[in-house]
Amino acid sequence: MLESLYACTNFLEDAGELVRVQEKLSPRYEVAAALRYLERQSGKAVLLERVEGYEDVVVLGNLLSNRRRLALLLDVPEDNVVDAYLARTATPVAPKIIEGDLLAAGLRETKPDVFVMPVLTHHAADASPYLTSAVTIARDPETGARGMGIHRVQVKERDRLGIFLGSPPLSDFLAKAEARSQDLEVAIVVGMHPLTWLAAVAYAPEGVDKFGLAGALRGEPVELVRCATVDLEVPVEAEYVIEGRVRAGVREKEGPFGESNGVYLTYDNPVIQVQRISCRPHAIYHALVPFNHEENILIGLTWEAQNLRGLQQRFPFVRRMHLEEDDWTRAVIQVDREQATVPLLEFASQVLQELYFVKTLVLVDTDIDIYDSQEVSFALATRFQPDRDMVVLRDQPALALDPSTTATPEGFRTAKVAMDATVPPGERERYKKISIPADVARRVREKLATV
Ligand SMILES: Cc1cc2nc3c(=O)[nH]c(=O)nc-3n(C[C@H](O)[C@H](O)[C@H](O)COP(=O)(O)O)c2cc1C
Repeated sequence: MLESLYACTNFLEDAGELVRVQEKLSPRYEVAAALRYLERQSGKAVLLERVEGYEDVVVLGNLLSNRRRLALLLDVPEDNVVDAYLARTATPVAPKIIEGDLLAAGLRETKPDVFVMPVLTHHAADASPYLTSAVTIARDPETGARGMGIHRVQVKERDRLGIFLGSPPLSDFLAKAEARSQDLEVAIVVGMHPLTWLAAVAYAPEGVDKFGLAGALRGEPVELVRCATVDLEVPVEAEYVIEGRVRAGVREKEGPFGESNGVYLTYDNPVIQVQRISCRPHAIYHALVPFNHEENILIGLTWEAQNLRGLQQRFPFVRRMHLEEDDWTRAVIQVDREQATVPLLEFASQVLQELYFVKTLVLVDTDIDIYDSQEVSFALATRFQPDRDMVVLRDQPALALDPSTTATPEGFRTAKVAMDATVPPGERERYKKISIPADVARRVREKLATV
């Protein structure tokens, strides 16, 4: 079993899925530039071994920026990732709290200075360094239930952070704490097992502990250890743990910060007072570069898993669905057109209204690989006519992240578009996609595997 992030990096390296970089790079822009470049180049995970100003730390990035690695970590073929996710998370495996303190788990206390880690500055106009892979954990002040998610964290001072708590459950926890004039205790973890990290941003129905989902994905209970100054537990393999409190009633400017959709966003956001930091010797700092494909894979897998079965129950001709790596507002749905029980554009309009953050929807046939954007582009280029195969919906609810939306008293509004890029009935031969014989392609792939 892969018990630590360190063990995972070795596992990925042995599988040919990790590259090491010896070039010395600065945490200010250079590491982010390297991770952006390498994601587009090889798509492998990257271990940056020399970071300017940090002797004893390595930076790990692009960890899940490819579905291949999700499949490897789940130990299933790439095609079965969504099915495996659904099958395993149906039965959560409760976490186990181990006896002993953070020190016993190998985490020693350092000074309460966030710059013990090489926090990256990513984009040109970012206000300051930001923690972007960090998972923030807190408790519901009323029920004591645990909640967590990735939330962008701005380093304002060595021991003062800004945090964007825009989504539940943590936004609700803070509202409840503030209604009682209480601070909200948080533990911020940087570096953990990749499947625990994935589960931390999964959609979790109310009352389901995401560490339980992580245990189900990993096939064994996640081990947790108690924090020293807050009433919270963190994964025993954490690389860094920041303990602190979100100050009740305090809001300050947070940003600008280059977001996952590629624009800078600034908010008035809560502030965290840091009270303790622990770290592992020879720690791995886990980097996540906003606007890289990795973010869309993190969001996309659980989104697909969350929506696919529901859609298939009502529309049995739906085969697969996918959020595109280049743009998480664009979804592709693969349908078996012959089996369709409703006109496809009618189906697409209904789906667009249900899938909240999807702005563009493309329908493709079963011969199109929905995970390959070149194939989706092929379908649009050769099977789609805008005056026949498109529907535009106006005045739909939208995410505030998109600057092209319209702000109204009821919230942000957007138009949406669906495109039917399936072959018209009875026309299959004329639209046939060219292909290299499958057995030859497979044989040559095997021969070239080591190139
Ligand atoms: C890469 C990434 C970055 C995120 N950043 C933020 C953020 O800055 N603020 C926020 O409120 N939610 C952010 N989220 C979303 C929350 O992590 C997400 O809503 C939460 O984990 C969903 O969990 P839930 O089902 O428990 O609501 C981010 C998600 C991802 C994948």
